[in-house]
Amino acid sequence: MKQLRHFLTLFEYSAKDLIDLLVLADDLKARLKKGKEDHCLKGKTLAMIFEKSSTRTKVSFEVAMFQLGGHAVNITSTDSQLGRGETYEDTARVLSRYCQGIMMRTFSQVNLDKMAEASSVPVINGLTDLFHPVQVMADLQTILEVKKTLKGLKVTYVGDGNNLANTWINAAIVLGFDLNVSCPPGFKPAGALLNQFGKEHHNVQMVEDPIEAVKSTDVIYTDTWFSMGQKEDEKKRKTFAPYQVNREMLSHAASDVMVLHCLPAHRDEEITSEVLDGPHSYVWEEAENRLHMQKAILKTLMS
Ligand code: CP
Ligand code: NVA
Repeated sequence: MKQLRHFLTLFEYSAKDLIDLLVLADDLKARLKKGKEDHCLKGKTLAMIFEKSSTRTKVSFEVAMFQLGGHAVNITSTDSQLGRGETYEDTARVLSRYCQGIMMRTFSQVNLDKMAEASSVPVINGLTDLFHPVQVMADLQTILEVKKTLKGLKVTYVGDGNNLANTWINAAIVLGFDLNVSCPPGFKPAGALLNQFGKEHHNVQMVEDPIEAVKSTDVIYTDTWFSMGQKEDEKKRKTFAPYQVNREMLSHAASDVMVLHCLPAHRDEEITSEVLDGPHSYVWEEAENRLHMQKAILKTLMS
């Protein structure tokens, strides 16, 4: 794999790069289960900046650094000078002098780009309003564990046209699997992304009717209707009601359909508890794979 500098979106990567990461994540998972840790990041430190809440991203990256022999430092905007107006660029310059990598969760993708521009160490996207690539890589690992191949596979994203929907489109464009995206009118993914796949990427389809979208699909993916930083409102809840992942929706998908959700789930809102806890759900395996995939990304960028 060529030397990768940052991990900001999946668009900067080739299909081979992504497959290499998926293979490495599996390898690291197998090594961990055998108790054969890979200490390739011994003596190295990752700075983790959180401008939004997190459970999975924070813990999986911190444990990943520990298991690879390194260390992680947690920074939030409230407990650092970022909250008092120090720029992303100056922060990146300083952190680059102490740490060998930076992972940041922030609002605008522009903040992350500023960080990456000024940093002399790799910068990893831990979620922005636009993309969540470290999540979708763990999702792909989970799908491959069960379905073995992406060839001939149909994935259907149902719900809000948010950072996860955008990242699924990004992944499908790079890797070429079939993707249906089903969002209510007014909540479709970012315009620029839609234009990108509009003419050239026939493997990505917008299918407004959720039942039509999930017909014979192999994977149903959903996410919260209210992302961090968004106000919850009843009108949006009503608009999204037909997009709830529930038993009736699953009856239209392939009989062995996998259900994934990046979590946190709003039980009985975008997904019923019955489905989340049911036999088609792989959400806990998916959450576990965050750790293995984060290790693969850290090893590739920082070792
Ligand atoms: N899926 C995910 O990124 O979870 P956290 O917000 O808990 O990190
Ligand atoms: N779309 C959600 C994902 C959380 C992991 C959010 O941005 O809040």
